Amino acid sequence: MQFADRLNNVETSAIRELFKLLGKPGIISFAGGFPDPALFDAEGIRQSADHVLSHNPGPVLQYGATEGYGPLREQISLFMAAKGGAGSASNASVAPEGLIVTTGSQQALDLIGKTMINPGDKVIVEAPTFLATIQCFRLYGAHIIGAPVDADGVDTDKLEALIVEHKPKLIYLIPTFSNPSGATLSLARRKRVLELAVKYNTTVVEDDPYGELYFDKAPPPSLLSLSAQVAGSRDLLAHCGSFSKIMSPGLRVGWMIAPPALLANATMCKQFSDAHTSNVTQAIAAHYLTLNRLDATLATVRTTYANRAKVMAASLHRELGSAISFNAPQGGMFFWAKLTGEGGNPNNATDFAKRAIDKLVAFVPGAPFYAHDADVATFRLSFATVDVKKIEEGIGRLGEAL
Ligand SMILES: Cc1ncc(COP(=O)(O)O)c(C=O)c1O
Repeated sequence: MQFADRLNNVETSAIRELFKLLGKPGIISFAGGFPDPALFDAEGIRQSADHVLSHNPGPVLQYGATEGYGPLREQISLFMAAKGGAGSASNASVAPEGLIVTTGSQQALDLIGKTMINPGDKVIVEAPTFLATIQCFRLYGAHIIGAPVDADGVDTDKLEALIVEHKPKLIYLIPTFSNPSGATLSLARRKRVLELAVKYNTTVVEDDPYGELYFDKAPPPSLLSLSAQVAGSRDLLAHCGSFSKIMSPGLRVGWMIAPPALLANATMCKQFSDAHTSNVTQAIAAHYLTLNRLDATLATVRTTYANRAKVMAASLHRELGSAISFNAPQGGMFFWAKLTGEGGNPNNATDFAKRAIDKLVAFVPGAPFYAHDADVATFRLSFATVDVKKIEEGIGRLGEAL
């Protein structure tokens, strides 16, 4: 068979290869990017599924609207209005017609690529960023440029210099508890990003699947929320949301909030792709949101992840000391660490990952998360699915693998 040239732009991820080794018995894995299934509110979702299939199931089992199931669009609109807490509540609000439901936020990213990226267009992303976005945008021929990130998210001075140099078609950011860096963009930098969007007339994509997973205090308001304070910025902003990390990824329900022209084009392309996201799972999510169970579920998820993150930070300090540097995240699911190479310690995370697998502990080397100029000393650890005893044991093994 002869395949499309666009496939030359992408390859299956290096991480996938590593995952093949994770089936070893007894392995403790910090490599995954999944939420903890033990924290899914299976009972609430089952009640919702029962309700949906026993009350007027016809419309839910029928074909539906490409834009999304009406009651879910309304519930997402309410969810967005409540997000961000008192004070900023109304700023992130969006009418049901101002959003479309997508098959996970991953599809929203694909639709953005499909509708906006011409071969050769430049796209700025964080270095490091979400691997699937690099791959997806490359499939459309994007030339991807990485902007450096520190503990406060993307460095906005360097971002501006890159915008001036490359005149990108769009900028893709994960401002809150990023995957993989764990970093959160500071409030001042958030405002600056919006100002830069307006100054250089550049579209910004805000990917926000982790914002609700904060540990002690809520993160700064989303770019979407802050766009009310920067004239013209809302017209240049696409915001992708998802229930994957707070309800269930298997439902495949995400959404995109964007200016009308982008929503219309994305809806048209979605029509040719999957026609619409499953009405059944949309209706389940919509009903679930009316049950008032999400707050309690989220409270448990937040304390559980906060505790695991605390134990991971303490274990890393204790077991790896000056062999690594890292910033403890304030939410989300990931630690981003860097081998220092100090005192003869290792400085290549891929070699370290192989030795770690021999000691029955796994993590993901950082290189694939860079679009170019990878920092091979970096690596990602997820604490989300590992209980605290196993975290201590696993990080202990990591220390032995140095
Ligand atoms: C940054 C980021 N964006 C988007 C996604 C896709 O999530 P979903 O399609 O399940 O909503 C993920 C999943 O891990 C992610 O980490």
